Amino acid sequence: MEKTRSVIRGVGHNVPTQVVTNNDLAKFMDTSDEWIVERTGIRERRFVEPGTTTSDLALPAVQMACERAGVEPRDCDMIIAATLSPDYFFPGIGTVLQSKLAMNHVPALDLRAQCSGLIYGLATADAYIRAGMGKRILLVCSEVQSPILELSNRGRDMAVLFGDGAGALVIEAQPCLNGETPSSKNSVRGIIDSAMGSDGSGAQQLFLKAPGSTTKGFLTQESLDSGDIHPKMDGRVVFKNAVTRMLEVATTVLERNGVSPGEIDLVLPHQANLRINDAVREKLGVSQERVFNNIQKYGNTTAATIPICMSEAVEQGKLKEGNLVLTLAFGAGFTWGCNLIRW
Ligand code: UT7
Repeated sequence: MEKTRSVIRGVGHNVPTQVVTNNDLAKFMDTSDEWIVERTGIRERRFVEPGTTTSDLALPAVQMACERAGVEPRDCDMIIAATLSPDYFFPGIGTVLQSKLAMNHVPALDLRAQCSGLIYGLATADAYIRAGMGKRILLVCSEVQSPILELSNRGRDMAVLFGDGAGALVIEAQPCLNGETPSSKNSVRGIIDSAMGSDGSGAQQLFLKAPGSTTKGFLTQESLDSGDIHPKMDGRVVFKNAVTRMLEVATTVLERNGVSPGEIDLVLPHQANLRINDAVREKLGVSQERVFNNIQKYGNTTAATIPICMSEAVEQGKLKEGNLVLTLAFGAGFTWGCNLIRW
């Protein structure tokens, strides 16, 4: 069988128009622009208007990705959707998007890898394509998190961090001419390598408890009163794990592909905290201008962060054909991972 490679043909993004500044949040809780900027780098984020669903937010991102790829959504033979904030508890947004996009009755696979959604999704799409099980895959990462945040003093540690946003990718199978696969040593476009990891002992360090089967009654008045319906995090534990795991997985992938940090054209990291990204960048030995950050404008949009960065980097001319690109993420689960791509 002829070898195939996975090429990202188009990437798009969509963020809500409503801008919420740090000062806006300070009207609801004891916080300040100074505290949020100093601890995280975030200056503002976007919140949807009430009623906008996660699949709704994704639609313009899919449209943009498809236009840039020169295809229609119905030309895709699979959907992979990553979110922690779906329209319904079940089913996932994959099937909802299939219908809204008027796609054929293709497989719709929903992924729960939280902030690592793009990385797990890209690795999965690449595996399907290499196995000959998909020719053109739509990967959608979308989050509407504003309704689950607690905009009060009790919820302030989480509420200031997150925002809403969506990104989408069209990933296409291309033949490997003369059997030559994408690598850090040639100019063949495509996904070169991916690595992922998880550690469920950290599940309760960053989670949203209810509704869920650990709650007797699934969702109770007590869940509402105690705040179990809002996300909780041990920020310091997550911070330390994020730096350690992101560094570890990036080093593994760079070493096994013979790439020195200086050879990477662009790092597209998850956007949880500017200090996390700075620490990882410094330890990896990559210069500042080769790391794309936009957390200042959008906060943490969980699975959507990396595709939004990708799409903006393309628009700004910072991500060009032939570039060697590293994605990198850590999130709830814990999950983490990276993809090495010849763009
Ligand atoms: O995307 C998934 C992965 N997520 C992450 O990677 C996030 C990882 N963690 C972090 O980014 C940081 O830990 C935070 C930004 C969440 C917090 O920064 P920190 O420097 O670790 O602060 P802290 O949690 O140690 O809190 C310091 C103080 C506390 O007060 P005391 O106990 O020192 O008096 C908090 O009560 O800041 C207080 N605080 C706030 N003050 C103003 C917590 N939230 C706020 C707030 N505004 N919003």
